[in-house]
Formats: sequence, C-alpha cells, structure tokens
Amino acid sequence: MPYSIQQSPMSEEPTGCLVVGVYQKQRLSSAARLFDEKHDNLIAKLLQRDEIKAKVGNTLLCINPDSNSPIQRILLVGLGKESPLNVNEFRKAVSAAAKTLKESVVTDFISTLTGVEVKDRTIDWKVAQTVELFEATLYQFTQMKSEAKEPKTYEHIGLLLTSNDDLSAAEQGLQHGIAVAHGVALAKELANLPGNICTPTYLAEQAIELSHNHATLSVEILEEHDMEELGMGALLSVSKGSREPAKLIVLKYSAAGNDQPPIVLIGKGLTFDAGGISLKPSAGMDEMKYDMCAGAAVIGTLSAAASLELPLNIVGIIPASENLPDGAANKPGDIVTSMAGKTIEILNTDAEGRLLLCDALTYAKRFNPAKVIDLATLTGACLVALGRTPSGLLGNDQDLCDALLAAGEVAADRAWQLPMWEEYQELLHSNFADIANIGGRDAGTITAACFLARFAKEFSWAHLDIAGTAWKTGKAKGATGRPVPLLVQYLCTLAAAE
Ligand code: BES
Ligand code: MN
Ligand code: ZN
Repeated sequence: MPYSIQQSPMSEEPTGCLVVGVYQKQRLSSAARLFDEKHDNLIAKLLQRDEIKAKVGNTLLCINPDSNSPIQRILLVGLGKESPLNVNEFRKAVSAAAKTLKESVVTDFISTLTGVEVKDRTIDWKVAQTVELFEATLYQFTQMKSEAKEPKTYEHIGLLLTSNDDLSAAEQGLQHGIAVAHGVALAKELANLPGNICTPTYLAEQAIELSHNHATLSVEILEEHDMEELGMGALLSVSKGSREPAKLIVLKYSAAGNDQPPIVLIGKGLTFDAGGISLKPSAGMDEMKYDMCAGAAVIGTLSAAASLELPLNIVGIIPASENLPDGAANKPGDIVTSMAGKTIEILNTDAEGRLLLCDALTYAKRFNPAKVIDLATLTGACLVALGRTPSGLLGNDQDLCDALLAAGEVAADRAWQLPMWEEYQELLHSNFADIANIGGRDAGTITAACFLARFAKEFSWAHLDIAGTAWKTGKAKGATGRPVPLLVQYLCTLAAAE
C-alpha cells in the first residue's frame, strides 16, 4: 500500500478517515483532543453517550457531522485503561483498526495511533509494527480460487507523527515495516500453496525468480546427482520415496566484502510430509503442506534483506523434498550414511526433517559461516511444550541464542529457549548405527535439536523449531510468515553493529 509519514497538523489534511485512540473513563488521546478542539467536542460527546467502551480493540467508525471538515470519517479505537500501552495492547488496537477499515468503504486514511505511547518502544518500532499489521490484515490467499474477490486496497495510508517524533527514525521504521511485510507475504504465499503445486522444483523456481529482482541475490540449485556426488545420503534417502526430485536450493545475498563470513540460514523445505512408511494419521494431514514453511521463511527473509540493502553476506540453504510412502521409501530400521560420514538408523521415517537438515548443516561448512541458524517445522512435541505463541529455540552458542531471543522480543515474533544438556544426547543411542533418528517419547523437541547439534559442532549454531508458529490451524488456517520478522530484526541489529 502507498504509505507516507505525515508531520503536518492533522486538521489541515483532507482524508477519508482519521483514526484516533480513546482511553476508558472518557479520556482522549492527544490526537483525539486535537480533533475535538476543531469539531465541537464530537468525540467527547460520543464517549459521554457511551458509544464506545474503549476496551483495547473496540472500534467505532463515525461519519464526521461537520461537513465543512476535510476529515470525512473518524474511527475511534479503544486503547484500554492507561497509557503507556504494552506491546500486545498496541498490536491488538492497531489490528482492530485495520480490520474495521478493511470492512468499511474507507479508501484512504490517516492513523494517529503511531502517536500512542507504548512502553519501551520508539517511533520507528510503532511505524514498522503498524505497517506489518495493516499488511497482514489485508493479506488474502487467492491464487487458487477461480473467482477471487479483489483484495481491499487503499489509495493512501498516512501515519501521523507527534511533534516529539523523529522524522528520519519514522522513515526508517516505514522501510523496515514494508520490507518485513513483503517478506512475510512472500513466505505466506509459498506456504499456502498446496503440495501438488508447490513442489521442490517449484520452490527452486521461485528462488530463481526472486533472484532476478535483486542484483545482490544469486541462486544455485543442486540436483539429486549433485547431492549424490556430495554424499548427502541422509537427505536423498527421504526423497527416494517420492516422484518429485529433491532440490538443494542455495540462495545467496552478497552485499558485504568477499572477506566477510556469511550468516547461513537453513530452512526445512518438505513440500509435503505424509510421514513416509511411518505414515501419519489422515486427520489434519493436509496441514503437512506447511512442512516447507521454514524454507519459505528463508526466501522471505532474504527478499527483505535485499530490499533493505543490509550490508551483510547471507546464504540461504533450503533442502527441499517430499516425504511419502512408496516401495523405494525409507523403512524403519534402514541405515543411511550422511554427508558428514555418520551413519543414521532411521527408526521412524516421519522424523525426516533432521535427515535433510543434517546434510544441509554439513554443506553449510563450506561457506565458512559466521553463524548458522536453521529453522524447521521439526517436531509436534514443540506444540505440546510451548503451544503456538513462541518458536522453540536451541543452540550451541548462548550469545547467538540471546541475540535471537532479543530480536524476537523486538519484532513481536518471540522465541523461547529450551535446554540442550548433554544428558539428552544419550536418548539418540542406536545399537546398529552411529546415531538413531529419534529419541523416544520424552523431550521430542530437544532430542531433535540434539540430533542436529551433532552436525553443527564446528560453528556457532542455533535452531528454531517453528512447528507451532509457522501456520494457524482451524477456521483461520493459513501461514503466518513467522519467523521472518524475528530473522529480519536479527539481521538488522547485526548490520547496525557492523
Ligand atoms: N513435520 C513434522 C513435525 C510437525 C508435526 C510439525 C505436526 C507440526 C505439526 C515432522 O517431520 C515430524 O513428523 N516429526 C515427528 C517426529 C517424531 C517421529 C520423533 C513428530 O513430531 O511426530
Ligand atoms: Mn515428519
Ligand atoms: Zn516433517
């Protein structure tokens, strides 16, 4: 959408709708007060008549009775009891405004919610979050509908600053918000596609297409014969059971000197996970088209990094495959040899993500990485442990984990760390191979990360289990684009420190 930051006094600015916050007990935000001074205390009167309860997320859209005013409508947004708001309250209020506007006839508006005080957050953050939330509200997956309703668009969205706000910080927040929103939308679009369209080959083509839009992006696709030459026996064992060839997508973003070691982002790209011979139950199995959400998030993150022109080198690696039952598929008890040379006993063919990721981790070594971060919809156990609020985080470098936790906090895309003590490693014991691919019923998210850790000993590494956060289930089923906001924030912080 066409956004602009506005500094001019609001009453001068013609607009289809002015969005203003109101607190409970008839307290006006400063924007509401300014409006009221020029409009015969309209808002105060509405509040006295109890027309809006002003709980966080309540909204009331009114026509401005002052027909001489350049402001045609006014949207009141409840801000709750007290200023400053916390992060969740702010996000809830902005989302509510976005939803009401989406359903309305309004085609251009000016929001003053960026002027609302939020605890410990500055104007750049408020602008970025506003853009991300507005864009998320407008997002619709329509690609596969034969007759799709045109998604709502706006002619103009103005974000109004207060006199205390720093214009250049706000502009920076706008750029950040737009880049994240586009990265999230790209990740959602790829993830929402069904498995029969979004195959490993399709994902590879999309990475190639993205690289054509930015001179800083380049792609290399490794085919099955290339992977065979590299000895990626774990990865290839998963794709054996599928008619779709596996791809190893390597998407490079180069915007720093050749001597700067890259950040490597690895994203699990299972375009459909039926479980293989250890077949999953059929209820809800459609959602396993989302087993490539991490791969999509890597693509979305690199697209955001490229549009922000971050002065970094980043390598995205997406091992992509299907996991299906077939005569040639992995069988429980099969033993395969990974690229690292370690043998793996496949006790459950549904624990396939780690088989792809271990070879991708070994492959990452050749880039001499500064950090390696893998993301994966890896374990159902992560949902049991943490629900759908944070992503699970584990790693071998506490500084890296802390940086990712902090980035998630800022981006409102949080992660929560789980321990990876050496006691857990014993659970992966195999009588027949170097390591088993499952660790039994206990601590499934941790044992999965322990498996990966065996292939990440030579670099600073962290793992995000996004099984609970990458998509929503139920009536609002759809990809979330997480953890693109977290990763972009992490990269921005890193770039700022360079
Ligand atoms: N892609 C799944 C994990 C998953 C399941 C994510 C449900 C989100 C919702 C992964 O490949 C898998 O099947 N993991 C198994 C591991 C088990 C066999 C050790 C799981 O979680 O059940
Ligand atoms: Mn699986
Ligand atoms: Zn899977």
